[in-house]
Amino acid sequence: MPTTGFAPEANSFSIHYITIVNYEYICSAVQQIARKAGHFIAEERKNFSREAVEIKGQSDFVSYVDKKSEEMIVAALKLLLPGSGFITEEGTAGQSGEKYLWIIDPLDGTTNFIHGMPPYAVSIALMEDKELVAGVVYEVTNDECFYAWKGGKAWLNGQPIRVTEAATSKDTLIATGFPYYDFGRMDAYIETLRYFMQNSHGLRRIGSAATDMAYLAAGRFDGFWEQGLHAWDIAAGVVIVREAGGKVSDFSGGDNFLFSGELVASNSNFFNEFQQVIEKNFVNS
Ligand code: IPD
Repeated sequence: MPTTGFAPEANSFSIHYITIVNYEYICSAVQQIARKAGHFIAEERKNFSREAVEIKGQSDFVSYVDKKSEEMIVAALKLLLPGSGFITEEGTAGQSGEKYLWIIDPLDGTTNFIHGMPPYAVSIALMEDKELVAGVVYEVTNDECFYAWKGGKAWLNGQPIRVTEAATSKDTLIATGFPYYDFGRMDAYIETLRYFMQNSHGLRRIGSAATDMAYLAAGRFDGFWEQGLHAWDIAAGVVIVREAGGKVSDFSGGDNFLFSGELVASNSNFFNEFQQVIEKNFVNS
């Protein structure tokens, strides 16, 4: 049975190419690619110097490690699924209106990486006709590969993972990312921090949104929200959280989370309370 590839189909005028994608096979191949990039990142970290850091914007950094990791990933994915498009953090390959689109963060948690602290991760997602169908987050420092494909459940290093059952904030551990370049909604942010400081087990800011999403899927966190994220930070995590039984939305509870910079994600039982607190503070105040 074909897994992925191109099957030529001739008619009298031209030759059409049909792509048949098996999500599980693709996901397995992407894990190998993410691990390879992750091993490169781990090796480079051993002798990494902060002098190699370039500043992209306020508190927004990049180095040759991010760029080289992205080049390796893009080259491998082009071979895996020829003709697919790309959205990548470091811009190695541009977007195109292809049926298949890869969304890649070659090193999520760059600030952690620069400072030599965990976690940091490789994040790779596949979209088919604008639907997210596969995601891999490889957290380098713990050698943990989280992955999922449409209809295939969610996994960590070969073991099934699932979100928690916690239903109210008093039973939850919440993850977030602090604003670092857009400070326009600080009051809403502080109010939300205040609510969850007083009504949960606590808050964590671990510095890699892709890892936040993977940890949510694995039941380590119960909820995660952040403003100002990019599609490459979260696309793979969205697939993994959903396949692990969780829910994802923008701050208003809608579907515009990938490109709006507004992300709310949690287990299903807690989702309504979580999303409503965030909507009240960020949208309705
Ligand atoms: C960042 C991390 C961080 C989050 C930032 C992201 P990057 O990604 O995910 O946790 O707070 O918003 O930009 O820049 O290290 O790939």
